[in-house]
Amino acid sequence: MKSIVILISGRGSNMQAIVEATLPVRIAAVISNRTDAQGLRYAADRGIATAVVDHTMFATRDAFDTELAGAINRYHPSLVVLAGFMRVLTPGFVDKFHGRLINIHPSLLPAFTGLHTHERALECGVQLHGCSVHFVTPGLDHGPIIIQAAVPVLPDDNAATLAARVLRQEHVVYPRAISWLVEGKVSLGASGRVNYHGAAMDGGILISPREQE
Ligand code: GRF
Repeated sequence: MKSIVILISGRGSNMQAIVEATLPVRIAAVISNRTDAQGLRYAADRGIATAVVDHTMFATRDAFDTELAGAINRYHPSLVVLAGFMRVLTPGFVDKFHGRLINIHPSLLPAFTGLHTHERALECGVQLHGCSVHFVTPGLDHGPIIIQAAVPVLPDDNAATLAARVLRQEHVVYPRAISWLVEGKVSLGASGRVNYHGAAMDGGILISPREQE
């Protein structure tokens, strides 16, 4: 069975959704850049190996990323899953995991890269918001998109209610993307575009608001 390593920085609800989904994959380790990441306890309680590579202990991004890559490679994962991992990764790190490094971002990319996506979506008055799972490339929150889920922005929404609606969909699409990848239904093509083989297309790239209710 293929194995994955999940990187977190905090709460870890996406990691939890991945652990609780029935996926044909072994979760080899959960690694955090913060000792106080809440998700570490959840993983350890379930017998999953955990590790911390504390970014504050490194003078440069390169030094941190080298140590992080070493910590990941100890588990020989076929996929590295960023799940609320709040560090910008160097191009050197991203290159090492080309085609097997994925991230989830709480917006319909390429809109709203970076932080505070829900506040910015509300400020802009968009009617559709959502989340995206994508292969990681050196640009922040850029890279070929594997799956997106859209949710409606409702008249009474605030950032918290909108974030909660998006997060419910994150917990649906991230396990789905991982299962596609480990089953070989999705891959990163040489052209830099996502290749879908068979069933992945049936899963729908965009989940419409109506389908979710
Ligand atoms: C999620 O909204 C994810 O999309 C973003 O950071 C948040 C992490 O939440 N990158 P959690 O730690 O998975 O609960």
